[in-house]
Amino acid sequence: MTSLWLAAMLIVVMGRNFTGLEELPNKCLHGKFQKKTSGPEELYLQCSPWQNRSCCTYKTTEQIHNGDIYNFNFNHCPDLMSAQCKSRFVQDLCFYECSPNIAPWIVKDTRTWRKERFYNVPLCASDCEAWFNDCAADFTCTDNWSKNFDWSNGSECTDGECFRNSCPKESKCMTFLEIYGNASNFCETVTSFNFLLT
Ligand SMILES: *[C@@H]1O[C@H](CO)[C@@H](O)[C@H](O)[C@H]1NC(C)=O
Ligand SMILES: *[C@@H]1O[C@H](CO)[C@@H](O)[C@H](O)[C@H]1NC(C)=O
Ligand SMILES: *[C@@H]1O[C@H](CO)[C@@H](O)[C@H](O)[C@H]1NC(C)=O
Ligand SMILES: *[C@@H]1O[C@H](CO)[C@@H](O)[C@H](O)[C@H]1NC(C)=O
Ligand SMILES: *[C@@H]1O[C@H](CO)[C@@H](O)[C@H](O)[C@H]1NC(C)=O
Repeated sequence: MTSLWLAAMLIVVMGRNFTGLEELPNKCLHGKFQKKTSGPEELYLQCSPWQNRSCCTYKTTEQIHNGDIYNFNFNHCPDLMSAQCKSRFVQDLCFYECSPNIAPWIVKDTRTWRKERFYNVPLCASDCEAWFNDCAADFTCTDNWSKNFDWSNGSECTDGECFRNSCPKESKCMTFLEIYGNASNFCETVTSFNFLLT
């Protein structure tokens, strides 16, 4: 009986390493919104492909779509971001918050809101180009989004909920094409090297 059970277990365990994804350790980023371990969740719209093994919750995915997450304002220029460009950033954030397959690319980070970040996750050049093309005619005012924005106008808020990024002084709204010049510079700079093009 015991040996039968063992044999059955062995088949289950051995079977595992031929499904591809299972070869990557199942791990969630130690960030502000991620769950401790991944599991099934019902997820909102564009994030739903991650719902079988998700590091994020429904609420997080809803906030990603509503532009509430991190209080980051994608519409920091007078011209609102186009729907197709926004959808690319939403997809990126779904991946960032929800994927359990990122263990090889996790590095330590010292920001107040997260202890870990991604670094050099492989991104196909064609995916990067599609992302850049969908945003090329949209407007922004600075290339490095994790460093250059002015967050000072939120200082009077009590609960932190009203912190919003605005364009740095002396900056000017220009198209993504003018700011980044090309797709590879865009994908690596806008995310501060979360991605490495392959
Ligand atoms: C598959 O998993 C078994 C059991 O964990 C392990 O011994 C074996 O080395 C793995 N094979 C491959 C190709 O990773
Ligand atoms: C999620 O799991 C269901 C049930 O096992 C399966 O039919 C579906 O294809 C899975 N979805 C993804 C995106 O892996
Ligand atoms: C902060 O808010 C004030 C009043 O709404 C506005 O005039 C000012 O331009 C804002 N500062 C920045 C850096 O956006
Ligand atoms: C993209 O732009 C960056 C920054 O201007 C530049 O260093 C790089 O050589 C350009 N790459 C291509 C493929 O044009
Ligand atoms: C953006 O700024 C951050 C914080 O200073 C820095 O770590 C990162 O290297 C910068 N990214 C780029 C692409 O220069």
